[in-house]
Amino acid sequence: MASAKTHDEIEAYVRSLHPSLVEHIQRVRLEAQTLAKRFQLDEDRVDLATTAHDIARLTAASELLRLAQEYHLQVHPVEEDLPVLLHGPVGAEWLRRRFALDDHEVLEAIRWHSTATRGLSPLGKAVFLADKLDLEKAGRYPFQPKVRALAHEDLDAAVLYFLNQDLMSFLSKDGIAHPASLEARNELIRKFRKTPDHR
Ligand SMILES: [Fe+2]
Ligand SMILES: [Fe+2]
Repeated sequence: MASAKTHDEIEAYVRSLHPSLVEHIQRVRLEAQTLAKRFQLDEDRVDLATTAHDIARLTAASELLRLAQEYHLQVHPVEEDLPVLLHGPVGAEWLRRRFALDDHEVLEAIRWHSTATRGLSPLGKAVFLADKLDLEKAGRYPFQPKVRALAHEDLDAAVLYFLNQDLMSFLSKDGIAHPASLEARNELIRKFRKTPDHR
C-alpha cells in the first residue's frame, strides 16, 4: 500500500507536467472516483492510480524504448512500432523505482491502462475505463456514451464493449491490435458465455 507521502510526491510531480495532460488527468480522476464509489473500490488507491497513470505519456518514443530496455521490460513488436504504447508499462516501472510505489494492483492498473489485459482487477478496469471516458476523447471514441452507460452498471460489460468497438475500428483500418487487448476481450467473452444472463 502506498504511503501518503508517496501519493503526495507523485501528485506534486504530475502537476509539473504539461497543462493539457494535467487537465486530462484531473478529468480521469473525477471519472474514476464516480466508478470507485459505484463499485465500492478503494477511493484512495483508485485516485493514486489515476493521478499517476500518464506520468510517462509525454516521454519521447526513443526514451520510452530506452527506459523499457533499462528496466528489462518485454517489448512486443507492436510496441516497437508504436512506442507510445509503452507509456503505461514504463510509467509503472518508473513509479516503482523512483517513487517507491509498491502497491502491485495500482502498478498493474497503470501498466495496462492503455490496452487492458487478461486478469485485470476491478481497480484496473475502473482506471482503464475512466481514461477512455474523458470527454476530450469523445471524437476518437464515438461509442463513448454507451461505454459510459455500461460502466455505471457493470465494469466487465463496459470494458468488453469498449474493446470490441475499438478492435473493430482498428481491424477495419488495417491497424495493428495490441495482443493484450485481444486477450482481455477474449477473457471477458469467455466469462459472459459462462454467465447465463449475459447481455
Ligand atoms: Fe495513457
Ligand atoms: Fe490517460
